[in-house]
Amino acid sequence: MVDAHSPNRLNQTQPTMDTLADLLEKNRNWATSVKAEDPSFFSELANQQTPQYLWIGCSDSRVPANQITGLAPGEVFVHRNVANVVAETDFNLLAVLQYAVDVLKVRHVIVCGHYGCGGVIAALENFRHGIIDNWLSGIRSLHRAHREELDALPPQAAADRLCELNVLAQARHVARTTIVEDAWARGQQISIHSWIYRLDNGIIKPLVPHIGKKLNDWNAQLD
Ligand code: CO
Repeated sequence: MVDAHSPNRLNQTQPTMDTLADLLEKNRNWATSVKAEDPSFFSELANQQTPQYLWIGCSDSRVPANQITGLAPGEVFVHRNVANVVAETDFNLLAVLQYAVDVLKVRHVIVCGHYGCGGVIAALENFRHGIIDNWLSGIRSLHRAHREELDALPPQAAADRLCELNVLAQARHVARTTIVEDAWARGQQISIHSWIYRLDNGIIKPLVPHIGKKLNDWNAQLD
């Protein structure tokens, strides 16, 4: 006989927010509908992934890589952190990049920032936010390097411009990694893209033509 007061019974009959039952139910519904459309979808994906794209984006919950690009599971390898920073001392990023380039052999690396990025805005502010200030030090340097241009703009436009400059800088950092330099030297085809997403209309804008092969070619395009 089931004890009406046991924790199990409570969990079965009175799911609370703590159980995230709604998320699990949505997951089951999603898996069922995907399988109904393509019965072999999950069994094929379980065997291998062959994504063409590596996405380096912001952790912001409003910028989910798959949803905003209409890509299905298996189509994009993803790394996200606050303000889509590419730091050459970040072993998390480097491990993702190396796996994407050397093993998955992705054709495109997309660095996608977004306007209204809290990380970029924090780097513009003159007060302490905590450990994140250390993470954002590269963006503060970028701000200092472009102070003349940014100070001439109204605050909102300056923040937007720094979001763009950050994407361009981080894309250049990708191109300067030994991982990408070595891949290009081997003749591997990889393009690096600098994109920015606008939260209030859901549209992605490419900032400059993509970087193919040589960073110098790309720097020339920026001038
Ligand atoms: Co952000």
